[in-house]
Amino acid sequence: MISESRRSTPDAFVASMDFDGRLAPFDLTASIAHVEMLGRRRILPRADAAKIVAGLRRILARVERGGRLVKAEDVHYAIEKTLYKEIGPLAGKMHTARSRNDQTVTALRLYLRTHIDGLRARLSELTAAFVDQAERNLGTVMPGYTHLQPGQPVLAAHHLLAHAWMLTRDRERLADVRRRVNQLPLGAAALAGTTFSIDRSWVADRLGFEGLVENAMDAVSDRDFLVEFLAAAALVMTHLSRWAEELILWTNPSFGFAVIADPFVTGSSIMPQKRNPDVAELVRGKTGRVYGALTALLTLLKGTPLAYNRDFQEDKPPVFDAVDTVEACLDVTTPLVRTLKVNREKMLDACRLGFLLATDVADAFARRGVPFREAHGLVAKAVHYAVERDISLEQVPLSFWRNLSSQAGSWILETLSLEKAVAARRSLGGTAPAEVQRQRLALRRRMQKGR
Ligand code: ARG
Repeated sequence: MISESRRSTPDAFVASMDFDGRLAPFDLTASIAHVEMLGRRRILPRADAAKIVAGLRRILARVERGGRLVKAEDVHYAIEKTLYKEIGPLAGKMHTARSRNDQTVTALRLYLRTHIDGLRARLSELTAAFVDQAERNLGTVMPGYTHLQPGQPVLAAHHLLAHAWMLTRDRERLADVRRRVNQLPLGAAALAGTTFSIDRSWVADRLGFEGLVENAMDAVSDRDFLVEFLAAAALVMTHLSRWAEELILWTNPSFGFAVIADPFVTGSSIMPQKRNPDVAELVRGKTGRVYGALTALLTLLKGTPLAYNRDFQEDKPPVFDAVDTVEACLDVTTPLVRTLKVNREKMLDACRLGFLLATDVADAFARRGVPFREAHGLVAKAVHYAVERDISLEQVPLSFWRNLSSQAGSWILETLSLEKAVAARRSLGGTAPAEVQRQRLALRRRMQKGR
């Protein structure tokens, strides 16, 4: 038996107050600008407008101190009802020349604009943490991987800066998205504009919007700005998740490349030795929620006829969840990166495995005139020889090399140096110390541009 008190009613079903309450300060701010405009344009008597604005300001101050609104179907009705309590029937004039359709999407755009700014600031902090960690590891050599198999030696700084560049693009991407979020839909009214002689541009200026969503039907019925935002947020999570996965590998004792600080690891209830990378795992795991939000919004929009549809109310929970998730993930990842202890010796030890210098020998043969494809083949034979005997490339006898190529010589041994291999990759974007320094400065400059 289902207890009747547990059944949803139609009223409860259409209500959004449970989740849209966080729009209250943004909705109040937009309503204040709207009513100020109504007064300036004499759509409302100036004295009426002033009283309404004063009432809204008092409510806003209370909301900011954690005060509650009167209960209603959604945050917009709740504010109106609260205003009735505050100033009486004059409250009914606030909704002149607008609709909840343009109202709700205005509040949502203001909310998102604020949180984009917060996310961009957080991304700057995380990028700076990676750059600082890179600076501490300008002399640390580690295996660079492809297919997670040892490839060529790189500076740990080079690896860490790769993450910093990804995050820099994320921050810039959010700035691009912000321009299109920051367009005012208010004044579209229900879908066709209004019979009152409103001044949309004045409201836009007052609220710090960069422009207007011109077409009234477009203004109330598209949520493309949310899709764009969620796509950018999904990419942030992709980048955080890839880093989280690397951390999980790096801190595995078989790698031992790094130690995560105590606050970011947890023990096991049974195994006393454990330092589980739960924070990194949760960052990786929470990525799915943000991808889900993006999918939810795309699915929500498709097939909705113009203009507003109540479906759109469902835009809020996924967007709020995505914002909360990305903010929290950035909040924990930044101090985690800052306090991460890189183990130089372990990284260097790992460079002894996997024939990381094979390409360097092939390159050296090529510089001696051997076609690279041939050089590649003969070094592969030497690696095969070493694998079969469980020896290193240094231990392959010169006589073996000489059988492979007349160009072989004692220079091969000199080539087999991690430091030389790293230092030799001076091409733009390469891992040579001077080049990594250059990239680091270029990145710092780009961060200072603050776009
Ligand atoms: N709570 C609603 C939403 O989020 C507000 C707009 C309602 N408009 C309407 N025509 N029923 O979409």
